[in-house]
Order: sequence, then C-alpha cells, then structure tokens
Amino acid sequence: MTITAAVLTVSDRCSRGEAQDQSGPAVAAALTEAGFEVVEIGLVPDEVEAIQKELVRFTDEQNVDLVFTTGGTGLSPRDVTPEATAAVLERETPFFPQAMLVYSLQITPNAMLSRMKAGIRGRSLILNLPGSPKAATENLAAVIDTLPHALKMLHGEGH
Ligand code: MTE
Repeated sequence: MTITAAVLTVSDRCSRGEAQDQSGPAVAAALTEAGFEVVEIGLVPDEVEAIQKELVRFTDEQNVDLVFTTGGTGLSPRDVTPEATAAVLERETPFFPQAMLVYSLQITPNAMLSRMKAGIRGRSLILNLPGSPKAATENLAAVIDTLPHALKMLHGEGH
C-alpha cells in the first residue's frame, strides 16, 4: 500500500519571497526516493496559527499518513514550530526526535539546538525537522526506515 506524505516548510523568509524553499523539495525528494508518495509541499511563515492550520488540513482533511515540517525548531524568538505542533498532537512519540538527535550528534554538536517534536494526530504521524536542507535530510535519514512499521502499528495492523 502506498504511504502518503506532505511536507510543510516553515519559514518567514521563504514565505515573503526573500529566499527560495530548498528544504521542502529536498525532504520531498528523499521521501519519493524511499517509495513514499508526496502529495503536497506547503509553505507558511513562522506563525503558530498558520502552522497549525496546515497541520490540521493535512491530517484531518487530507488524511495524509506522514506530515513533516521543516524549519522553525531552533532557539530564535521566531522559532515556534514545536509549540504549534505540540498543540495539535493527540499523543507524542518522543523517541523519533531522540533517535534523530542521537544520529545527528554523530554529525554535528549543533544538533542539540533543535527542539523537534513528533506525534500522532488521528491516523497521521507528524514529525518536525530542522530547516536547512542538510539538517532536514539528515534527520529524516535517521527515522525513514522505521516509518512504514510505525504506520502499520498506528493503523492497528500490529506487528
Ligand atoms: N541536525 C543535523 N543532523 N545536521 C545539522 O546540520 N543543524 C542544527 C540543528 N540540527 C543540524 C541539525 C542547527 S545549526 C539548528 S539551529 C537546529 O537544527 C534548528 O534548526 P531550525 O531552527 O532551522 O529548525
């Protein structure tokens, strides 16, 4: 069965047209390469309401299996993606971000600067990724092989 995915880029600069979104397409390319069907790449500014609205649309309306955000997970005052995500999650899956951290710390100590969240809303799994194409794809690589099994469990198909 095809697993569907959506990617939401969270960036003030990209949404103002001051920079081009490279992370959304990079994450989408890695997902496609792994056999997932990417249904949409969205783009919103670093605003809690805008992020939540898109997360709810992807999960409740479009029933996408996997929803990734990229960007806004760091320490700057405008970084609100984890808070926006946590507020729409029904159950957290804290070990996805932990697995990403363990993996990423072998690449750079800067990995500890991300505050990523992940969890479940309905039949969807939502995962935050950091904002640069490098950081986003490295963090995705840490968990990508586990995602099909995670979705089977989420959809009640057991082991
Ligand atoms: N994780 C990996 N694997 N590789 C990286 O280069 N960069 C870090 C971190 N996680 C990085 C990474 C940096 S420099 C920051 S500031 C945080 O992710 C948060 O990024 P964000 O604010 O763009 O979401």
